[in-house]
Amino acid sequence: MTGSEPHAEALAQLAWLVELGATEAISEQPVNRFEAADTAKVAGRQETAVARQAAPLAEPAASPDREPLEQAVETARQLAAGAGDLAALRAAIDAFEGCELKKGARNLVFADGDPVARLMIIGEAPGRDEDREGFPFVGRAGKLLDRMLAAIGLSRKADEAENAVYIANVMPWRPPQNRDPTPDEIAMMLPFLARHVALADPDLIVPMGNIACQALLGRRGITRLRGQWTQAFDRPALPMFHPAYLLRSPARKREAWADLLEIQSRLKGSN
Ligand code: URA
Repeated sequence: MTGSEPHAEALAQLAWLVELGATEAISEQPVNRFEAADTAKVAGRQETAVARQAAPLAEPAASPDREPLEQAVETARQLAAGAGDLAALRAAIDAFEGCELKKGARNLVFADGDPVARLMIIGEAPGRDEDREGFPFVGRAGKLLDRMLAAIGLSRKADEAENAVYIANVMPWRPPQNRDPTPDEIAMMLPFLARHVALADPDLIVPMGNIACQALLGRRGITRLRGQWTQAFDRPALPMFHPAYLLRSPARKREAWADLLEIQSRLKGSN
């Protein structure tokens, strides 16, 4: 074995941890947690044996550094309810400390387009480009979304309300490594999204992709859900494929086109 091998191995382990989503070092000195885990396992086994004799029904310890989910949801509800307009809602989300994603994000990604629009599109969560720029759907998927909307005469930059569109996400902060938001993260941000929809007051909603369907409809399975009118936040909603999925599966653009025509026709009042 050469002298550089342990070094290379440590680097490979670090790369693997980053790949798994680690974003920061949590102490000044490096700790070999692989070794520590073995020691802890042995100690843990001994403690567990003692605990089984002493306290067979011990309650699980509460985590001191994590606000319980219900409390975070309640805080989110109160903050959202107190927001009288979109600017206040944005400030309320910015003030919310219950969601860990905030700590790893560069920017709060609130919305883009014109809130007077009759159509509100709800995506999943910001990616790297959105996190950097502070606006939803500005990367490759966003460019495709803009082209899709332009095909039915809509634009987030439109001057007239009838051509306008309003765009937001379920999550306002980027999840590390673009992982899916967890059910807890979605649950604690949902009161803000509900208030967002109530304040923007669109006639139609398009949840884009599985995460948006999970959050808005409580269901996944976009292949079955897409193109079927349903209700979200008490208004008509038409789930569609996410543009990032369309980039990977261009053959599905035909169905997306059918959905766009359906939206156009509903906006024109012909169905
Ligand atoms: N995907 C989303 O769902 N939202 C964005 O803002 C960008 C990519």
